[in-house]
Amino acid sequence: MSGLTREEVSSDLDQASSLESEPQVSTAELLEFGSKHLLGNYRQAPMVLVKGSGCFVEDSEHKRYLDFAAGVAVNALGHSHLKLVQAISEQAATLMHVSNYFFNQQNLMLAAELTAATGFSRAFFCNSGGEANEAMLKLARRYQHNRGKKEKLRFIAFENSFHGRTFATVNLTGTASYREGFGEFPGVTHVPYGDLDALKRVLSDDVCGIFVEPVQGEGGVLPAPAGFLQGLRELCDEQQALLLVDEVQTGIGRTGTVLGLEHSGVRADVVTLAKGLGGGFPIGAMLVREELANVLTPGTHGSTFGGNALASRAARVVLEVLTKDGVLSQVREKGAHLSAKLQEIALRFPELCEGERGLGLMRGLILKKGVDAREALALCREHGLLLTMAGGQVLRFTPPLIATIEELDLAASRLADALAALRLRLISAG
Ligand SMILES: Cc1ncc(COP(=O)(O)O)c(C=O)c1O
Repeated sequence: MSGLTREEVSSDLDQASSLESEPQVSTAELLEFGSKHLLGNYRQAPMVLVKGSGCFVEDSEHKRYLDFAAGVAVNALGHSHLKLVQAISEQAATLMHVSNYFFNQQNLMLAAELTAATGFSRAFFCNSGGEANEAMLKLARRYQHNRGKKEKLRFIAFENSFHGRTFATVNLTGTASYREGFGEFPGVTHVPYGDLDALKRVLSDDVCGIFVEPVQGEGGVLPAPAGFLQGLRELCDEQQALLLVDEVQTGIGRTGTVLGLEHSGVRADVVTLAKGLGGGFPIGAMLVREELANVLTPGTHGSTFGGNALASRAARVVLEVLTKDGVLSQVREKGAHLSAKLQEIALRFPELCEGERGLGLMRGLILKKGVDAREALALCREHGLLLTMAGGQVLRFTPPLIATIEELDLAASRLADALAALRLRLISAG
């Protein structure tokens, strides 16, 4: 596609949407559609987003927000990134989907590029993080089965972890309330994150693999303590269990390296990716080392949409922009900048904040016990800053990786205004 400017693409998109025969619907009516016709399984803010550009999104009332939720660590290149928009448009007009009974060129290229960028040997593609983790569970069990270790069925996972919402992955997830009422998927033991001694106490010959996030995201933006991942690697080797690393949130540059695991120097047997990989286009992946290449033989696993040409093209652009356009090389520096800003704010509001933590551009402002995190989140939104919550008391920052220093500063200043408003409210409430 010829090189259009961002303005030209935006104006094309505006024209396209104005050509649609969408009836004019008010925000109140749209929200009513939601309350009447959606399942109600999300706690959704009372606003409707209609468009986005870079780090900003706009709602149906034309209010603009700095989007540091970024689809929960998904919009790595921000919204409407020129290269991504052009590539998706071009690919949609060329080839979107063919069955996995046939190769498609974009998927083959992505497999080669992604394995080269991460040092893994083989890739399997699907559409989401939960699905990627399902594939990892199946591969691990099948691996042990194939080598005659049929007793090795049990998985170890960590308290506070998050691995998805499918039946198996929600049972790996270390928050009991997410599992409540769904019955049990047998064979998962949870131990405290970071506690190698607790892990040793539950390790035995029946362990198939250990599931771990390099930074617990949903659990409250908790980086692995020093030595923890190395310890897991050693224990897996001793027990002939697989080290199964969930990089759905930490992967693809979020922490300043392609994989979050790189900070520790540890090699996993299998990793999963999703979120940032497609920059907003749904795609998940499982990457394995060569010894595990032929575990899932034809007929043992698959996905109709997995690795389709459109999703693969999107992921190729994300990888290219991250690694070749210099975005990734700035993530650590920007993460350090955001960290310093959040620390400053925590010191300015000691009655509300405990501190901050994180890795790269995956950061959390920890609120004091008793502070209503939902109220803080809503006030941030009112002040034009979109964030998500993690682990109950943490305001989570997962901005687009293309965020500029000025945008990080703007987020910090909007956060400070929101916390000042919260402090005033608490004072006037006595
Ligand atoms: C670490 C981790 N694993 C898995 C998932 C599930 O991904 P998805 O919602 O794409 O199924 C998430 C989503 O938040 C995640 O953070």
